[in-house]
Amino acid sequence: MTDKFRWGILGTGSIARQFAEGLTALPDAELTAVGSRSEETARRFSEKHGAQRHHSSYEAIARDPDLDAVYVSTPHSLHCENTLLLLEHGQNVLCEKPFAINLSEAERMIAKAREKKRFLMEAMWMRFNPVIRKLGELLEAGAIGEPRQVMADFGFRADFDPEQRLFNPDLGGGALLDVGIYPITFARVVFHEAPVSVVSAAGRGETGIDEQSAYLFRYESGALALLSSAIRTETPHEAVVCGTEGQIRFPRHFWNPDRLILNGDEQRIEIVGNGYNYEAAAVMECVRTGQLECDVMPHSETLAVQSQLDEIRAQWGLTYPGE
Ligand SMILES: NC(=O)c1ccc[n+]([C@@H]2O[C@H](COP(=O)([O-])OP(=O)(O)OC[C@H]3O[C@@H](n4cnc5c(N)ncnc54)[C@H](OP(=O)(O)O)[C@@H]3O)[C@@H](O)[C@H]2O)c1
Repeated sequence: MTDKFRWGILGTGSIARQFAEGLTALPDAELTAVGSRSEETARRFSEKHGAQRHHSSYEAIARDPDLDAVYVSTPHSLHCENTLLLLEHGQNVLCEKPFAINLSEAERMIAKAREKKRFLMEAMWMRFNPVIRKLGELLEAGAIGEPRQVMADFGFRADFDPEQRLFNPDLGGGALLDVGIYPITFARVVFHEAPVSVVSAAGRGETGIDEQSAYLFRYESGALALLSSAIRTETPHEAVVCGTEGQIRFPRHFWNPDRLILNGDEQRIEIVGNGYNYEAAAVMECVRTGQLECDVMPHSETLAVQSQLDEIRAQWGLTYPGE
């Protein structure tokens, strides 16, 4: 029997709960340790999710000698600092999206992982979803000819709270970094290249961050991607890939789909667990086989998307504190 893979979780917020739940779908994984800024929060999270031990600081979980990988689930502005701390102490790291606030942070994180010879990956779970993998296969097989247009949106309505991470510039708030990264990644999955031209627009809110934004990408071939995101407006959550010989539609939550529609024909794929288990399983496979990056979500893709995010923000003059 294989030894259980020993996971740590750093930061005990809403996505950390879902990731812990996702691990329960993997018989060869266990939540071993939890690290929080507070003893009380760490203990409660660890009791609720059956972790073996808890740490009352991020430094303490970084020093835990018996972990196979640690998942970073703090706000965007802390990803770089938290990841560097973990890598410095020799941990393998799965870091939430967006990987960092900007390209320069992302490059430092990747350089540290290489220096320490540790595994590092951005937790862009959409790339591991079986339906998204199927999309890649269909495009590869020419199921809709040459892709010419992609449309995708991810917008939801959150209550306005200037302190909350979605709206707080200190925590890297804004629709682009929180959810715009999904349609942008989706376009990347389809076209596998950077656009030659990017036009974008942002509706900025009281705290200065983009409460909604849209991005129009043009590729070398003339193909286009029409993408948008929002944190104060609910949008349809659809994606469509239009090719020279047909369409592939994702009728709902394209970032975690259980079906696609190929030229009118609905194809469902069974999703096991809550979806976060797929990225966790990929990390486990890589770490167990000694790979330092994952070919489904390699560093080059993280850097490509991160530089896109920088380019778009530069068009609006949106910078975060410390940049
Ligand atoms: N993959 C996905 O589907 C998905 C979905 C939602 C969010 N995310 C990503 O996951 C990350 C966390 O999002 P979330 O929604 O889980 O956030 P959240 O509920 O606000 O939790 C963030 C956690 O980070 C820790 N933290 C450290 N410093 C903090 C600070 N100054 N302010 C607030 N929290 C701080 C806290 O844990 P302790 O108190 O334990 O230290 C907190 O519970 C973000 O990068 C987000 O983009 C991904």
